[in-house]
Amino acid sequence: MQILIANETHLGYASVICETIEESARQRGTGIAKRSTEYIATKIKNGNAVIALDGKTFAGFCYIETWEHGKFVANSGLIVHPDYRGQGLATAIKTKIFEYSNTKFPDAKIFGITTGLAVMKINYDLGYEPVTFSELTDDPLFWEGCQTCKNYDILQRTERKMCLCTGMLYDPKAQPPKHKKTLNEKVFSRLKSIKQSLLLKKDKLKNTTV
Ligand SMILES: CC(C)(COP(=O)(O)OP(=O)(O)OC[C@H]1O[C@@H](n2cnc3c(N)ncnc32)[C@H](O)[C@@H]1OP(=O)(O)O)[C@@H](O)C(=O)NCCC(=O)NCCS
Repeated sequence: MQILIANETHLGYASVICETIEESARQRGTGIAKRSTEYIATKIKNGNAVIALDGKTFAGFCYIETWEHGKFVANSGLIVHPDYRGQGLATAIKTKIFEYSNTKFPDAKIFGITTGLAVMKINYDLGYEPVTFSELTDDPLFWEGCQTCKNYDILQRTERKMCLCTGMLYDPKAQPPKHKKTLNEKVFSRLKSIKQSLLLKKDKLKNTTV
């Protein structure tokens, strides 16, 4: 397995990457920000993506976005092809893109929003901390990327203060913790189900009263 900074020679993978992201979202039935093939192709061309290849077969992908003139960086669109899951590939891709982002944008805060426990675990191990949305970029373009997520109405209703996703942030200037911490999965699973019952219930209620 090769985990590489993507370049023009990988442009041919843009459509399989988009298809794999969309198919995974369909199967999970969860919210996801959709990305066009052109958008993925631009990330590949500009050296702002990491691709995992098993020989010539696509195995995984993740890309970099910058916000507020490089004050914030997001490592987004993580996808591992179903054939390659459960083998530590997402961890390897996220580690590679995290180190690459740190080198390319050394002063940037690196952040992500996710509902996925696997991604929360990986981010936490890399040094991200869970934060409120107010600590993330306020660039409207970033949040507009959520418009294609099926939970977007929640984000609008809460005036961008909260959604089903958890915000996580790595601040290169923050002091590293003295003791190695691990993510308490139970706490985050519980938090997710509390948010779902509060926010989705209201949503249903709103729909039935209209
Ligand atoms: C989420 C995804 C990227 C994980 O890829 P993967 O290569 O199987 O992940 P890894 O093998 O590196 O696992 C990383 C950690 O998460 C855990 N994990 C993996 N899938 C998990 C799941 N569905 N639920 C809870 N934990 C999970 C692993 O046990 C591992 O933890 P450990 O280090 O304590 O053993 C992959 O399932 C995927 O592409 N899903 C669809 C797209 C998606 O959800 N993208 C994230 C958008 S934010």
